[in-house]
Amino acid sequence: MTVLVTGGAGFIGSNFVLDWLAQSDELVVNVDKLTYAGNLGNLASLKGDARHIVVQGDIGDQAAVERLLAEHRPRAVINFAAESHVDRSIHGAGDFIQTNVVGTFHLLQAVLGYWRDTLQRDQEFRFLHVSTDEVYGSLGADDPAFSETTQYAPNSPYSASKAASDHLVRAWHHTYGLPVLTTNCSNNYGPLQFPEKLIPLMISNALEGKALPVYGDGRNVRDWLYVTDHCSAIRTVLERGRVGEVYNVGGNSEKQNIEVVKTLCAILDELVPAGRPHEKLVTYVTDRPGHDRRYAIDATKIERELGWTPSVAFADGIRKTVRWYLDNAEWVREVKSGEYRKWLDLNYQGRG
Ligand code: NAD
Ligand code: TYD
Repeated sequence: MTVLVTGGAGFIGSNFVLDWLAQSDELVVNVDKLTYAGNLGNLASLKGDARHIVVQGDIGDQAAVERLLAEHRPRAVINFAAESHVDRSIHGAGDFIQTNVVGTFHLLQAVLGYWRDTLQRDQEFRFLHVSTDEVYGSLGADDPAFSETTQYAPNSPYSASKAASDHLVRAWHHTYGLPVLTTNCSNNYGPLQFPEKLIPLMISNALEGKALPVYGDGRNVRDWLYVTDHCSAIRTVLERGRVGEVYNVGGNSEKQNIEVVKTLCAILDELVPAGRPHEKLVTYVTDRPGHDRRYAIDATKIERELGWTPSVAFADGIRKTVRWYLDNAEWVREVKSGEYRKWLDLNYQGRG
């Protein structure tokens, strides 16, 4: 059996592929455009592994995706591919619309044709769309957490583009019957996250003795989930989720940004003392335009229906994450400098 993963060289996608192949012998076809955020070095441990086929490709290239589907006949497509960084979306939304909206449309069209015309009627197939809690907008301090029925109210170009993709996925189910599943997850953290997002940026800057730029008053709240818990949630929804349903995924771990940054600084003080507290590097900077105040996830549906709960406590996950970045300074240097492109020469099985 085979699954096709899109965006599997990015942060969550590569963790998912590594996790998947650690516990299954199913083939993974990994289609990734290899943008700045896609790094085959993340998957170096799979070099020469016949169960992993990497194809450099764009989800918006419908003909190419159609060819891959016909060739590999996957039992599922899991869509991680996206432009994912809010600040980049504010500075230039074009790529976000192109990949997250237009790309998802072409991917859905390719998958629909494959499902309708190629697969036998009794063959089980799933299209799982990986989305974000940001589609629900911003919460006040005392508002109830986002549930699957919370009205969509995206505020950034990124979240608007993800909301649009979620609506397309929903419509392809309701109109054409495509067997889809959607997950809306809170902020992930862990190994292999590109150092532009809060946690790896702060670790990387702190290690270089650079300022730690905290937006606004630092009191915006995010719910943090360790990335392997997100991967297990996706596997669970893929295997047991009800077709056409949406599942919110969260870590039950709401933190103010400044609290996260101070925690990172305390761990770094302990592991790599720098003569003075890393916290001294905290610098409050101009707020992000339209900055959502608070995200919180009500994940009772996935727990009640599918028995999934997060397994990594924030205190443990954040420590593991800091240790990973300390042990992988070379990876950080490579992805920041763009040198990871040398990994393109890796001898992957069947690279396109
Ligand atoms: P990422 O930016 O680290 O990785 C995205 C990957 O997609 C990269 O490998 C990139 O090369 C690839 N890609 C981009 N455009 C493509 C295209 N047109 N065709 C094929 N591949 C393309 O992102 P991430 O943090 O791993 O997020 C993965 C998915 O999970 C996204 O859909 C994101 O919206 C969603 N998500 C992320 C978080 C989070 O905290 N990071 C939380 C919830 C949901
Ligand atoms: P980020 O990791 O970009 O994720 P998202 O915006 O998708 O939630 O940011 C997490 C939080 O950290 C968010 O409230 C913005 C804030 N932030 C900073 O304060 N400074 C930074 O340099 C970055 C990148 C983020």
